[in-house]
Amino acid sequence: MGKEMGAKETLHICMGSACHQTGVFNVLPVLQQLIAEHDLQDRLELKGAFCLGACSRAIVLKLGDVFITDVNSRNVRKKFLHEVLPLLEGVKQ
Ligand code: FES
Repeated sequence: MGKEMGAKETLHICMGSACHQTGVFNVLPVLQQLIAEHDLQDRLELKGAFCLGACSRAIVLKLGDVFITDVNSRNVRKKFLHEVLPLLEGVKQ
């Protein structure tokens, strides 16, 4: 086996009731598609989570210690490009 290329990061997506009501099931397939589009299957794993404790900011994602809030099906692409990707770049080394 070669050198470890950096651990795989987990992007938690809240499946709690507030996020569920706000439409997490519309956002989930878009995130999966974005991960595929950016060829990040080896770097980023999408995982459902219980309530992340920021219900008033639903829909909530979490990468490492950072929350990405107020996500919806209209802005998810932008959130991914401007918030998730830079975070991922930051943990690359
Ligand atoms: S239900 Fe998603 S943060 Fe609470």
